[in-house]
Amino acid sequence: MPNVVVVGTQWGDEGKGKVVDLLTANADVVVRYQGGNNAGHTLVVNGEQTICHLIPSGILHAEKTCLIGNGVVVDPEVLLEEMETLRERGVSVGPENLGVSEKAHIILPYHKALDAAREKAKGKQKIGTTGRGIGPAYEDKAGRTGIRAVDLLEPAILGEKIRSNLEEKNFLLEAFLKAEPLDFQPMFDRYCAMGEVLRPYVTDVSLAIERAGREGRNVLFEGAQGTHLDIDHGTYPFVTSSNPIAGGACAGAGVGPRRLHHVNGIVKAYTTRVGAGPFTTELTDEIGDAIQSRGAEFGATTGRRRRCGWLDLVMLQDSIRLNGLDSLSITKLDVLTGLNPLKLCVGYELDGQTVESRPSSLDKLARCTPVYEEAPGWEEEISSARTLDDLPPETRAYLNRIEEITGVPIALVSVGAMREETIVVKDLFG
Ligand code: GDP
Ligand code: IMO
Ligand code: MG
Repeated sequence: MPNVVVVGTQWGDEGKGKVVDLLTANADVVVRYQGGNNAGHTLVVNGEQTICHLIPSGILHAEKTCLIGNGVVVDPEVLLEEMETLRERGVSVGPENLGVSEKAHIILPYHKALDAAREKAKGKQKIGTTGRGIGPAYEDKAGRTGIRAVDLLEPAILGEKIRSNLEEKNFLLEAFLKAEPLDFQPMFDRYCAMGEVLRPYVTDVSLAIERAGREGRNVLFEGAQGTHLDIDHGTYPFVTSSNPIAGGACAGAGVGPRRLHHVNGIVKAYTTRVGAGPFTTELTDEIGDAIQSRGAEFGATTGRRRRCGWLDLVMLQDSIRLNGLDSLSITKLDVLTGLNPLKLCVGYELDGQTVESRPSSLDKLARCTPVYEEAPGWEEEISSARTLDDLPPETRAYLNRIEEITGVPIALVSVGAMREETIVVKDLFG
């Protein structure tokens, strides 16, 4: 059975959680490989909504294994809270079905304090981060001063590391950012205590994946954020601090590239973005408002209103190349009902010239204007469709046009938030 990677092709919130939950039915192991609790992945099952921030979106399937890879930055406070919330709702969460990589880096209170203080200092230039300490935690990882899950299990080492980090962070916070310094002792005590609770969960995720493969069990890799928030390939600096692209699954879970057999890209039928940064197809008119309200486009992590615009196929083409996409999942197609005509961005124009891929220069990107192709809309509600034939001809034509332009087949179409509101065109594990 093949291993599958699911990645966001836009700026996050494409509906990865829903698709991962659905695909978990045919997978044995689900692995998050990057990001942290900046992610908010929504599942709606039996009318009940669950938002996963750190725990993989396969967790509602009791008999499956969920793993948090080394590429994830883990806020233990949030992880424990998320485990508790799930348990209160009758979902079993224990070391038998959840593991955290011993190499995963840990988010500490100083990361959150730095994230907040830096954003404040940037003023109008701020990135609009989720404020969860993600960037500062990855900085420490790259700077080789990070604290890993394995350190939580060795109090003497943990104490030394927190003490030495805090000296530098407090200097930065107080002297440069004019923010409050943090105390060592309560932080150390809290992280030691959380380490003890997490001890049975801390494991070697890379080995666990290899073992699963040897036993003939297949793996679903769950990306967080989206391709255009990628630290290398996104709209830098308006990006997150990790690699959401499919290649990130290798480094972030500890598997070789030949173990990734199929990459599915999640594409919202339109585009959204939370936070600052360029957005070529953004709609600041009543059409944008209509999409925002029909799609209930509010952040699953921060509750912020998401900016909305037409589907951008220039971005999608970049995502196809950057991830090596084998198939697409089109989500939230139902939200487009009633909009007529629809528009697809098929190119950018920069200073009177057509450009084929998005420029890296933010200045040039800001000057790009979208080239649109119109497509007829439809009036019918489509959430009850379970096959492509159930869709109005205009809806099918919209999907066909996406396939035609991108050359990538559509494997799944989501027509509502609930698990069953889905058209499965192709079984990715088949
Ligand atoms: P993720 O971060 O990629 O997992 O996406 P989010 O969960 O942040 O945002 C997607 C939102 O759209 C959630 O509220 C989902 O419940 C909802 N959703 C997912 N698929 C569909 C769909 O096909 N139609 C509609 N109307 N809502 C959907
Ligand atoms: P999911 O997995 C949408 C955005 C933030 C901000 C930028 C940097 O639910 O799709 P960070 O806190 O990561 O340093 O913020 O990235 N961002 C997301 N936007 N969905 C997400 O995750 C996001 N995670 C981060 O809004 O613009
Ligand atoms: Mg989200």
